[in-house]
Amino acid sequence: MKTLFTQTLAKEKTGVPPIWMMRQAGRYLPEYRLLRKKSPNFLSFCLTPSLTVEAALQPMRRFFFDAAIVFSDILLVPYAMGLSVVFDEKQGPLLSPVDKKFCFPKEEDVLEKLQVVAESVSLLREKMNEESFSESALIGFCGAPWTLAAYMVEGKGSRDFFLLRRLALQEKSFFQDLIAYLTSLLSKFLGLQVRAGADMVQIFDTWAGLADSEQFHEWIVAPTKTMVDALQETFVMGFARQAGNKLFAYAHETGLDGVSLDSGCDLLLANEILPRDLVLQGNLDPVRLLVGGEGMRNEARKICEQCQHRPFIFNLGHGILKETPPEHVEQLVKVVREFR
Ligand code: CP3
Repeated sequence: MKTLFTQTLAKEKTGVPPIWMMRQAGRYLPEYRLLRKKSPNFLSFCLTPSLTVEAALQPMRRFFFDAAIVFSDILLVPYAMGLSVVFDEKQGPLLSPVDKKFCFPKEEDVLEKLQVVAESVSLLREKMNEESFSESALIGFCGAPWTLAAYMVEGKGSRDFFLLRRLALQEKSFFQDLIAYLTSLLSKFLGLQVRAGADMVQIFDTWAGLADSEQFHEWIVAPTKTMVDALQETFVMGFARQAGNKLFAYAHETGLDGVSLDSGCDLLLANEILPRDLVLQGNLDPVRLLVGGEGMRNEARKICEQCQHRPFIFNLGHGILKETPPEHVEQLVKVVREFR
């Protein structure tokens, strides 16, 4: 069965693009906020496949997106590596920070703990088939080595990740080991998700914009290429947020099948300069979705128009904001589906 999504994965252009949204499951949905109460904390929620599957299906039932994304978090990996990871309501994620004395755990042990994500993937595929979403794609994901290192070194979210950037320069040999370790681990982690039923995987490099151009090549392009090579036939999408003009290297030198673009990226220019068979994904500003109205609709149509002659997946430039009215999501899906 050919669907918009599988056609796009095969690098065909489709006219009307398939659509899903980063953070399509989560707190903007009242049913998610209710479900979330069934677990004492966010981490235990992510570690319970019956709950993660329900969370991933909620936006599918409302909006019939072309793809579901497994419900999990990029910080499950540092947790499985033995770090303490707490999601604080106000401060966001808090981790026990690593330094050059960090002892890397055995890869098999970490992957064993991450097996629960593969369980979520296979249970989600099963339930999608039961609930008439058998033609929708299933997306697996992980954080990129650089972005995971950012949280692991800093111990929390930050605007400039100063501790990360200082350590990357001052303790280069340790940083090299950390990135190499994560690169190998994450390749295998994505492999687990693919074997469990993921049709596509996305590598989230949320903090790619913090790397200078030398670091971008060393800690972002090279590790991404290693991961793509390890995943062979799998369809891999990368999201190097705020990479700016370094996106050119990211698209050309990693072997990625597609790149997800943030809202700051000029889509018309990206369409012109990036390889014709590279799938582009993006890039409506989540704040435009939150505000809604004719402004949102016009911008969405413009995005569809700018990419109608290449393989393209409609998405946001970053995750849905929790204050977003669900009706706006419904309106956006309608506009995109009616595009021609
Ligand atoms: O539909 C989906 O996409 C849900 C699955 C998902 C989550 N996180 C659930 C989540 C995905 C794909 C992520 C990725 C993620 N997590 C990224 C990369 C993408 C991006 O947004 O840049 C990053 C950097 C994280 C780390 C993270 N997790 C932060 C910084 C926070 C706190 C800030 C916030 O938005 O609350 C989280 C928590 C988190 N991850 C929540 C959800 C639904 C909210 C916690 C809750 O529901 O209690």
